[in-house]
Amino acid sequence: MYEELPLSADDPARERRYAEVAERLAGLLQDPHDWITAMATVACELHHAFGYYDWTGFYRAVTDERLLLGPYQGSHGCLAIDFSRGVCGAAARTRTTQLVPDVEAFPGHIACSASTRSEIVVPIVAPGGRLLGVLDVDSNAVAAFRDVDVRGLEALCQDLGRRFERTPSL
Ligand code: SME
Repeated sequence: MYEELPLSADDPARERRYAEVAERLAGLLQDPHDWITAMATVACELHHAFGYYDWTGFYRAVTDERLLLGPYQGSHGCLAIDFSRGVCGAAARTRTTQLVPDVEAFPGHIACSASTRSEIVVPIVAPGGRLLGVLDVDSNAVAAFRDVDVRGLEALCQDLGRRFERTPSL
């Protein structure tokens, strides 16, 4: 395993790290593992690859309006989030990535951890249009995430949507 990439890393270094993580995951997920196994593995790999990731995990879309906590790394996460609430709910509802440089400026942000200062939430949508859930990454630093992080995480979530399109709702 590599050293965690620090917050000070520039865009090319971050881009290389996302490529390394993608390569590792391609190897780890090539057998027909299930969705829970995959989410747990992705959360672990990402969390330990980037020093500025302080909470890394999944919320599963269990109905058209409710997310339930999935595998994660970090401190306590909220157990359930309605689509109408918070950054995760906005990502699920709009099916678009939410990049929040300052959580205090996001109306309705749910503070699971008082130390969170910025976050990114990416929806996981299967090619047929089904929403599997969202990937939520929180940082204790303000504006920790940039476009390079959006690109890296969106590519990863697109791959997960393809791989687990037919997984039953859990
Ligand atoms: N901050 C998120 C809630 C999830 S946790 O931070 C783990 C939100 O507002 O959706």
